[in-house]
Amino acid sequence: MDRRNFLKISGVGGVMMALSPSIIRGKLYADDGRLFTAYEKVQLVDANGKALKATALKEEINYVFNYPFVGTPAILLDLGVQTQRDIKLFSEEGEEYIWKGGVGEKKSLVAYSAICSHQLAHPTPADSFLQYLQRGKTTIACKQKGGLVVCSSHLSAFDPSKGCKKVAGPAEQPLASIILEVAEDDTLWVSAVLGPDKFHEYFKRYKTEMKKFYGGKRKAKKWVKEHAITVVLDEYTKEIIQY
Ligand code: FES
Repeated sequence: MDRRNFLKISGVGGVMMALSPSIIRGKLYADDGRLFTAYEKVQLVDANGKALKATALKEEINYVFNYPFVGTPAILLDLGVQTQRDIKLFSEEGEEYIWKGGVGEKKSLVAYSAICSHQLAHPTPADSFLQYLQRGKTTIACKQKGGLVVCSSHLSAFDPSKGCKKVAGPAEQPLASIILEVAEDDTLWVSAVLGPDKFHEYFKRYKTEMKKFYGGKRKAKKWVKEHAITVVLDEYTKEIIQY
């Protein structure tokens, strides 16, 4: 394996790194920074600005927040069951990276960029073609019954218990992961993006949308700072399109 392409995140048993105000349960290592970008460390809060608590999240509900930029949506999920761990993933260029698994008491909490890795469909206040589909529910994207993030724009499906690895459809790489941490006081924090993101293409393609929803591309491209408002998808968007 080419070590330059390999990003490791050490387990809890590794050297602990304390970063105020939360305690991070682990330490991040990147050999050259590729496929991993640290951004402003930000706390997830509800619409009233109150800290979101990890143990208060509802299982299998789509929560949306914007990160790492003001105009880039991401999803937060409590899958309700422990995720798999140390999943080897690849970008469409063949770069390898390792997704370490869910966090929280049950290791069931995950966060991903909600910009589809195929052709950039994403939730907006107007509609969303992308959402997590609960276990047992059907999609025409594939035979698996739920437990998937489905993009109904061209029917790609991703497994959030495996780093959002593609399981069906035309997408050629996973959804980028958002590095999520649970502090000792149960609060939730995000700090980085792991995996191939589509932010550059997204901002280039959706200029009109950035103006409509964020007051322009320049404002939409600002880093989110201090906190990110996190709401359920049904409240964020007028219409969810799911096939
Ligand atoms: S944009 Fe998501 S499958 Fe095409």
